Amino acid sequence: QEFVEVLEKARGSHGLERHEVIVLLQARGEEVDALGRAADGVRAAFLGDEVHLRGIIEFSNYCCRNCLYCGLRRDNRKLRRYRLTPGEILAAARKAAGLGLPTIVLQSGEDPHYTAPVLADIIRRLKEEVGVGAVTLSVGERSFEDYRLWREAGADRYLLKHETADAALFARLRPGTTLQDRLLRLKWLRDLGYQVGSGNIIGLPGQSLETLAADILLMRELDVEMAGIGPFIPHPQTPLAKEPPGELELTLKVLAIARLLLPRAHLPATTALGTIHPQGRRMGLCFGANVIMPDTTPPPYRYYYQIYPGKAGLHEEMGKTLVSLKNLIFSLNRRVGSGPGHSPKIQGGM
Ligand code: 5AD
Ligand code: SF4
Repeated sequence: QEFVEVLEKARGSHGLERHEVIVLLQARGEEVDALGRAADGVRAAFLGDEVHLRGIIEFSNYCCRNCLYCGLRRDNRKLRRYRLTPGEILAAARKAAGLGLPTIVLQSGEDPHYTAPVLADIIRRLKEEVGVGAVTLSVGERSFEDYRLWREAGADRYLLKHETADAALFARLRPGTTLQDRLLRLKWLRDLGYQVGSGNIIGLPGQSLETLAADILLMRELDVEMAGIGPFIPHPQTPLAKEPPGELELTLKVLAIARLLLPRAHLPATTALGTIHPQGRRMGLCFGANVIMPDTTPPPYRYYYQIYPGKAGLHEEMGKTLVSLKNLIFSLNRRVGSGPGHSPKIQGGM
């Protein structure tokens, strides 16, 4: 099938078959530009020019899992581990709010040290005491009861990337866990009324274009409110240290296709994208992204949250980072989002 034909079909927000997604993933040269323009047009039409900033607080780098690609894996003995106290988390959120970041993402490795009631209390205080507009959780696979407690405490959103839609690859790269379990949790989160975020990693060893097409179609099937799409970056203290990183262009293509098929989803220009290329985030914003998640973890802890090496913006002071991000947004004739930036699906009848 012709590239142009498939692009027109996607632009009309029609679903695509897997082989059609693959046609778009194979875009080359000017076709890539056309794909980006189409995604940018859909982003502008459905979401306007606002780029939402979400402060991310990485409150613990302890993890009981052993994912082959991730620097936080439990077998990485070289990493200095830390945990923020509830007081430190609240202080970080206050600082973020003071800098004009209306919503907060709480992220950590899978760390059972933070029991459900302890996290619930933090969520409640973030909303009641700090006045955070929306709280997003990203703390991995937990029980239905935990998710329920946090939702009742006021958590609005949950990020649980499916990482890869290839069940065999998933099981190999995430020992002791299954894609099926992950998808079950995404369903729980949906049933509990969270705005749900998924996403994948581009360029994992053993991944194919078929798999990437399945990733995109899965996100559409889940009808996610958010999707984090970023390149694989090899970490030296993991079994995948010697593997090549995910490609910039392929990541941008996946992002653009996701935008075409999920016109209302919040798609961040990920930190990983900004890490593999100095203009990565800018390009992401031009290929359909409408969110940036600046790191608001207090130093020195942020240096130890080494999912992958060379994280963009790591050594900048937070105020400075925000100034350069805002300049980036303005330079693209876009605006900084105001308010909590909820999914347009749940706002005023949409
Ligand atoms: N490269 C890119 N992304 C990674 N993640 C974990 N390890 C890596 C890596 N080496 C991503 C996963 C996870 C998120 C917190 O970080 O997708 O969901
Ligand atoms: Fe832990 Fe998540 Fe890293 Fe896996 S990807 S080791 S679950 S932090």
